[in-house]
This record gives sequence, structure tokens and C-alpha cells, in this order.
Amino acid sequence: MSKNLKDIIDLNKYPIHDLNSPKIKSIIEKCKSDLEQDSCSTLPDFILPDSLKIMNNELEQQLNEVYMSKESINAYLYAKDDLSLPKDHPKRTFMNRYNGYLNSDCFSENSEMKFLYETEELLNFVSACLGVSPIYRWADPLACHAYNVMKPEGILPWHFDSCEFTLSLMIQKAEKGGIFEYCPNIREPGNENFEEVKKVLNGDRTRVKQLKLEPGDLQIFKGRFTLHRVTKIEGNSSRYMCIPAYVLDPHRVNTPEHSKAIYGKALPIHYERNTARSDGLAD
Ligand SMILES: [Fe+2]
Repeated sequence: MSKNLKDIIDLNKYPIHDLNSPKIKSIIEKCKSDLEQDSCSTLPDFILPDSLKIMNNELEQQLNEVYMSKESINAYLYAKDDLSLPKDHPKRTFMNRYNGYLNSDCFSENSEMKFLYETEELLNFVSACLGVSPIYRWADPLACHAYNVMKPEGILPWHFDSCEFTLSLMIQKAEKGGIFEYCPNIREPGNENFEEVKKVLNGDRTRVKQLKLEPGDLQIFKGRFTLHRVTKIEGNSSRYMCIPAYVLDPHRVNTPEHSKAIYGKALPIHYERNTARSDGLAD
């Protein structure tokens, strides 16, 4: 069955297929200023209800393939302690993490989410909202558009993403908890800002903001520069998101260690492309 963007996105509200339309231009301007100020911007009811159901179904049919990981991890997504650093260094703060992904390589050829991720329209719209061009779809075959599953008791502690730009598409909310919290622009290329990161890890709430997402909402987010977390899932239902990602470097993928820890395996591409990051930031 061939898919069509108009059956997935509310194109009346968000005409991303026509970036010259006055309507989308003003939406892009708003997103741009949100992203500059706040590292993140939300587009309510971006996905149509029927498409949302299809996404929910495709994930639920493959829940047995979701890789769940439970481990203690630092904000830079390492599980290994670095004894050469001072004891109170943020890299030495380890937090509980219980989280799962349906890896992108598990998606069916006919997947609604995969189709959406691969459209030029979405790529160009996100690029315009970020005011960054070119951006690329992520070359990581496991992580590029994974479904995120947080089961009851699931928790995603403070961290930075390894890709620059993340979309978060809320599919199903938790009954309670599962709140996205973030600290805008806390680090930038060449400046880790460890002092400020340390404060947040130690419980300081001064920089912390919360974002409430409803099913169908799309969030555009600068996850590599913004410390963020998802609070513990309470109640009986799981929280489902899809997190398609875009990057500045079309070649780069996750490190083998990161891929194994978060996605359950590393592929040859993760070893072949395991080089230092050009922005000098840790992940
Ligand atoms: Fe993240």
C-alpha cells in the first residue's frame, strides 16, 4: 500500500509540503525563535489521529523485539567510571536508567514512521525550523528513527544525545510521570560547562524546564546541547515515543559501546566509523 504525507501529517494546519506558504512560514519563524531561546519547540497535533493509531499498532505488534536495557549510566551515556577524574566530576555521576528501543532496522518496509522519516518534506521543514542547512538523516541504522518504549518504572536519567537534533513524537502517554525535563543550551561545541551540568545532576532546579507532550504532538529538540531526562513512569501503562533524528555529519554513527549499551548490539558500521567527534563534546 503506498503512503501519502497528507494521511500522516495535518497538512491544513502544518503545510510542510509548501514551505513558501505564509502559514508554514510563520510557523517556521515561531519554531526558530523557540529553538533559539529554549532549545526546543512543540507543534501540537502534528500527526493525524488515524496515522497515530497506525504507528501505535506497528510498535505494539513488535513489542517483543524491543531491546530493554537497565543499567547505571552517566550524562554522557557511558557506563564506565573514569577514576582519573575528580570524584565530583559530572562524568562520575551515575544514574539509574531503564529504557527500551525498537531499533530502526526492525521496522517493516511498510512502516508509517519509516515512511515519514524518509520524506524530503519533513527533512526540509525541520532544517528550516532549526535555521540549519544542510542537515542529514542519521546514518545510524539502529538509532535513526527508533521507537522508544518506557515501561512502568522506566526512567531516562539526565543526558545529552549523541545526535544534534531530535524529533520526539508522542504516541502514547504514561498514566503518570514520564515527564520530559530539560536545561536549554547548557553546553555548546567546545564548551562542556561541567560546573552547570554538575549543579543540575546534584538536584539544582534553577535551569530545569518541563514540557508536556500529548499524543500526536511533535517536538523539535537540540538534544546534543541540552541536558534532558524523562522522569519515572508511574501507573500501569507504558510511554511510547518515536524519536527520529537529524545530524550535521552524514557519515557518523553511534560508537560501538554506546550502540551495544542502548540498542543491544553493534554492527560493522559502528566499528568502521568509530572516530572522534568533530565538535569536541563527549558522548
Ligand atoms: Fe535524549
